Amino acid sequence: MNPVELIIRKRGGKSLSHDELEGFVTGYIESEIPEYQMSAMLMAIFFAGMTPDEVQTLTGVYIDSGERIAFPAHWPTVDKHSTGGVGDKLSLMLAPLAVACGCRVPMISGRGLGHTGGTLDKLESIPGFRTGFSVADFKRLVDEVGCAIVAQSERLVPADKRIYALRDVTGTVESLPLITASIMSKKIAEGARGLVIDLKVGSGAFMKDIDTARKLAALLMRTGEAFGQRVHVVFSDMNAPLGEWVGNALEVRETIAFLRGESRIADQFNLTRELWRQMLLLAGQQAQATDDRFEQLLRSEAAEVFGRMIAAQGGDPRVVDDPSLLPVAPHEIPILAANGGYLAGVNSQAVGYALVGIGAGRRKLGDTLDYGAGAWLPRKLGDELRPSDLIGKVYCSERAAGEEAAGRIAAAYRVSPERPEAVPVVLETCTSES
Ligand code: URA
Repeated sequence: MNPVELIIRKRGGKSLSHDELEGFVTGYIESEIPEYQMSAMLMAIFFAGMTPDEVQTLTGVYIDSGERIAFPAHWPTVDKHSTGGVGDKLSLMLAPLAVACGCRVPMISGRGLGHTGGTLDKLESIPGFRTGFSVADFKRLVDEVGCAIVAQSERLVPADKRIYALRDVTGTVESLPLITASIMSKKIAEGARGLVIDLKVGSGAFMKDIDTARKLAALLMRTGEAFGQRVHVVFSDMNAPLGEWVGNALEVRETIAFLRGESRIADQFNLTRELWRQMLLLAGQQAQATDDRFEQLLRSEAAEVFGRMIAAQGGDPRVVDDPSLLPVAPHEIPILAANGGYLAGVNSQAVGYALVGIGAGRRKLGDTLDYGAGAWLPRKLGDELRPSDLIGKVYCSERAAGEEAAGRIAAAYRVSPERPEAVPVVLETCTSES
């Protein structure tokens, strides 16, 4: 195999065979193909695309670069994946909600990078909580508690780990075939038989428009099916942060309030309920997928399961009854509306980056987080604002940085003289059977 010939063929829009893709990826992982040739291949794929069969092959090659976890066939295993948003703490809510209905949820999650938060960082803001477990311990936790949320190990899809890092620095992230192989290889390798994907659409998301999102959904579902995983996709609006709180420990607090039935912010509530319903349908628990059952879970079981998961992963489960055990940054800086009018959009990406400036997110991998830093952002699209109205608060450890973040967040709020048409958070749902 001559790597440059394959690059030229792909650049010319031709398909590559299984052996060619496998040889190229394996050659890269084993350092026989240099980074510059893999970079060129990724850029060729970015522009020329791939057939669905090639995407399936690439996904299989990624999976085979590591271990594939298998759970007992009779377990109703189901997972949820989000393509990333701001204030998106729904994995923390959904794992216990699904477990309380008999599902098993093996969840391998990521850290925040760029403007979006990461599930692992949020959980690690709970004193003592650990996310690094061996595959054997991960399986034991799923057996004992019903769910576990852990970090990707070195042995799970190492090819994606290396290639994703390269895509990140070569401008090749936003390619539907490459995104599909990257997401699906991890989700198939972790062993869940059903997968619900929360595909975010809008200014704060990877997918800016619904047509591109639909194309991605079709590829994700086809690839899942090819490996025996059923996939449901929920398209959700990401033109403003979800819920009211953004920031690691602050989002854990909001999660606890939600699971105890004390927080019912409409966008967050409706999206969580829809994703939970889809998880139950995939896991064969449809009899429980009713609004009444959801309300019942929020009165007791959901918070209890969350407490059990925290304890099993080394965290302090008392936070469920006493959220004041979670860190909160000492300074509160008001965020004031810059202009009057109806709130028409919030640039979530700008909000996310403003909060990176106070340590709620990372500039680069390895940066230390300030778990108690973040923001309270209660105003929703369509709300009427007058200039200097309080639109939220920044929580920070350094006042000057917090004031700068508050100014940047205020600038991310766009108002219009007309009240914008209300957009539901759940835009549409599609299942692999439909
Ligand atoms: N998330 C992933 O895991 N991979 C991508 O390529 C994009 C989002």
